[in-house]
Amino acid sequence: MQPEFLIIHPPPAQYVAHVQLHRPAALNALNLQLMAELRHTLRLLDADDQVRAIVINGDEQAFAAGADIKQMSGKSAIDRYNTDQFSTWDTIRRIKKPLIAAVSGFALGGGCELAMLCDLIVASETARFGQPEIKLGIMPAAGGTQRLTRAVGKALAMEMVLTGRQLSAAEALQAGLINKIVPVALYLQEAIKLAATMATMSPLAVQMDKEAVLKSFDTTLDECLQFEQKNFYLLFATADQQEGMQAFVEKRKPVFKGR
Ligand code: CAA
Repeated sequence: MQPEFLIIHPPPAQYVAHVQLHRPAALNALNLQLMAELRHTLRLLDADDQVRAIVINGDEQAFAAGADIKQMSGKSAIDRYNTDQFSTWDTIRRIKKPLIAAVSGFALGGGCELAMLCDLIVASETARFGQPEIKLGIMPAAGGTQRLTRAVGKALAMEMVLTGRQLSAAEALQAGLINKIVPVALYLQEAIKLAATMATMSPLAVQMDKEAVLKSFDTTLDECLQFEQKNFYLLFATADQQEGMQAFVEKRKPVFKGR
C-alpha cells in the first residue's frame, strides 16, 4: 500500500529510516488513514534488518496539530468505540526500535501524544507542545494525561491539560519533555544524527534498553529491576556482546550485526 499521508524518505544514514507525516493542508492532523499508514509503515520498518532507528517528523509548520477534529465531529460514542482508533496507538507503542520525533511548529493534542510516544524528542526553536482538548470539550486519550504527567510532573501537566496552555520549546526542555532544541534549519538533521548514533550500537542491546526504560512506566521498581537484569543476561547470549567487549580489549571500533 502506497501511503497517501506519509513520505518514506530514502535512508538518511546507515540503518536509519525517516518517515514524514505529510498532510500539510491540515497541519498534519492525524486522521484515521494517516495513523493506519503510520502503523503499517512502522511495523514494516520494525521488521527490517536494515533499520535500527526511526525518525518521524512533520514539516516546519507542524509536527501534527492533533487528531482530525473534522473527522471526529458529529461522531457518537459508539462510532468512536467501533472505530477503535487507539489500537493503532497501541501497536506503535510496541515498536521495538527507537523512535525519534523531530518536532517543529505545532505538536498539539494527538500530535503532542505522538511525539511523547516516541523515545526521544528533538525540537526546533518554533516547536509548541500542548494538549488543547479541553477547549473542545474532550480530553487527551492517546496517553496525554499519563505520559505528559510522567514527563513534566503533576503541576505543569494539570495546567496544560486543564487550561490548554501550550509550552514553548524552551519551556518543554526545562520541564524535561524534550531532549534538545536546535534552530529550525537543523532540527531534522539533529534527530537523524541521534538516530545514526543509536544505529551504530548493538541493535539488540538498543531494543532491550528501550524495553527496560519503558518498563519503568508500567510497574514497580522491584519488577523493573528484575526485568532489567533479565535483559542484561539475555544480551550475553548475543554475538554483539562478544564483539563489543572484544573490540574494547583490542582498542578498535565494534561492528555490530544484530545477532
Ligand atoms: N483537525 C482537523 N483540521 C485541522 C486541525 C485538526 N486538529 N488542526 C488544523 N486543522 C486545519 C484547519 O481546519 C485549517 O484547515 P482549512 O484551511 O481547511 O480551514 C488548516 O488546518 C490550517 O489551520 P488554521 O487555519 O487553524 O491555522 P492557524 O495557524 O490559524 O492555527 C492551530 C493553528 C492553533 C494549530 C489551530 O489549527 C488549532 O487550534 N488546531 C486544532 C488543535 C487541537 O485542538 N488539537 C487537538 C485535537 S483533539 C485530539 O488530538 C484528541 C486526542 O487526544 C487523540
